[in-house]
Amino acid sequence: MQTLGFFFYIGLLFILYTSSFSIALTKIQYPVTRRWLTTLRQKDPNPDHVPDELKVEVDPILKFDNPRIKNAYCALHEWKKAMISDPYNMTGNWVGPDVCSYFGVGCVQALDDPRILTVAVVDLNFGDISGQLVPHLGLLTDLGILHLHSNRFCGIIPKTISRLPLLFELDLSNNRFSGLFPTPVLELPSLRFLDIRFNEFEGLLPPALFDKDLDAIIVNNNRFYSHLPKNMGNSPASTLVLSNNKFSGCIPRSFAQMPNIEQVSFSNNRLTGCLPDGLESLKYLLVLDVSKNYFVGTLPRSLESLKTIAKLDFSNNQLTGKVHDSICSLPALWNLTIISNFFDEIGGECEKLSKHKLVLEDADNCISRKSNQRPQKDCLQVLSHPIDCKTAGCQPRDPSILKHIKKKTPQLPTVQVHSPPPPMVTPHSTPKPPPVPQPPPARIFKNLPP
Ligand SMILES: *[C@@H]1O[C@H](CO)[C@@H](O)[C@H](O)[C@H]1NC(C)=O
Ligand SMILES: *[C@@H]1O[C@H](CO)[C@@H](O)[C@H](O)[C@H]1NC(C)=O
Repeated sequence: MQTLGFFFYIGLLFILYTSSFSIALTKIQYPVTRRWLTTLRQKDPNPDHVPDELKVEVDPILKFDNPRIKNAYCALHEWKKAMISDPYNMTGNWVGPDVCSYFGVGCVQALDDPRILTVAVVDLNFGDISGQLVPHLGLLTDLGILHLHSNRFCGIIPKTISRLPLLFELDLSNNRFSGLFPTPVLELPSLRFLDIRFNEFEGLLPPALFDKDLDAIIVNNNRFYSHLPKNMGNSPASTLVLSNNKFSGCIPRSFAQMPNIEQVSFSNNRLTGCLPDGLESLKYLLVLDVSKNYFVGTLPRSLESLKTIAKLDFSNNQLTGKVHDSICSLPALWNLTIISNFFDEIGGECEKLSKHKLVLEDADNCISRKSNQRPQKDCLQVLSHPIDCKTAGCQPRDPSILKHIKKKTPQLPTVQVHSPPPPMVTPHSTPKPPPVPQPPPARIFKNLPP
């Protein structure tokens, strides 16, 4: 396994912010080979070609190192024109033909021509810049990393972004982008890491997202709704964060086939039905968070085969039945949260959990010998209408059953629509990892093409 971790770049970018940058960045590793690039470029044999609609007049006095640097100059200057506010003056030194010396811009040797330097990284994280992205960004044909976390960019993602054959990390998180899922990103052939959390995207997640070779899919805190695509299991992602949207329907059965999944959060949506069974194949799963939904039925028995699981959060659902010893004694488990469900029994091993510095949070259930539980009549009301997961389908529970139960059942999820305020950091400090990752994205890239 080749690791091309995000943290590696954080390290590089730290150097960027403190000293000479172009030296540090000579270490950038695209997750693509020259041969792969050659294949990609067979479609578009001249990487320097500029389509008419992206042509820009440039002062003839300016002398550029090579045509791609000139294209980058056009892209960055058209973009700068579309910026309305730059409170930290991040683009203040975006002047003149030497784009490699611009703040937040990193150059390395071109993958297909080691004799020339081209723009490989644009990192304006925590810039608090307002404005829009422009189609001319499609001229940055050697861009591998675009980090725009915590800015105020709005509007849509230009279609021309799909012209970036090498882009493998795209972080647009905590901005004000809106509209439907940005489908141009699905056409990025090298993309491995997609983070669009904390924006205002809405509508459906396209099934093609789960057919792409992505290692991280992070879309939490948007306004996505409707059912999750049935082909979810095709995704080789290790991190999938869907929380704080308005997804409805069941978790697709194919979820249990996700070959590399390590961290997954479905939290705070409107998901219904039973939890999927057949989880034996999830060999690397560390975190499973299904909290704050409308799941019903009993826990799937296959949970007991999750030998690597460290954190299970079932809280704030309508789950029933027993929490078995076989779950509580899972070897890596250290935090099991079942608060606010209708479980009526927990195994003896579960009781021991909290004693071994493991955490079991079990309030607001129907466990008769415990004190902090729901009123008996609420429990009777729900437990006298058991749900058979073999036949239950994806319908929510008959609302009349829950009508009189106060407060303990989840309210309609409130979706956070406003991004958290940008952290108060100056551009010259080390970029911090983005806030509120639930769970934190694993930025280790697996499954790279040879
Ligand atoms: C922004 O940065 C540029 C270049 O570093 C500098 O010349 C300019 O005075 C700065 N502007 C403000 C408002 O600080
Ligand atoms: C366990 O997980 C719950 C729910 O995610 C969280 O609220 C709690 O703080 C965690 N406990 C510990 C000790 O980390």
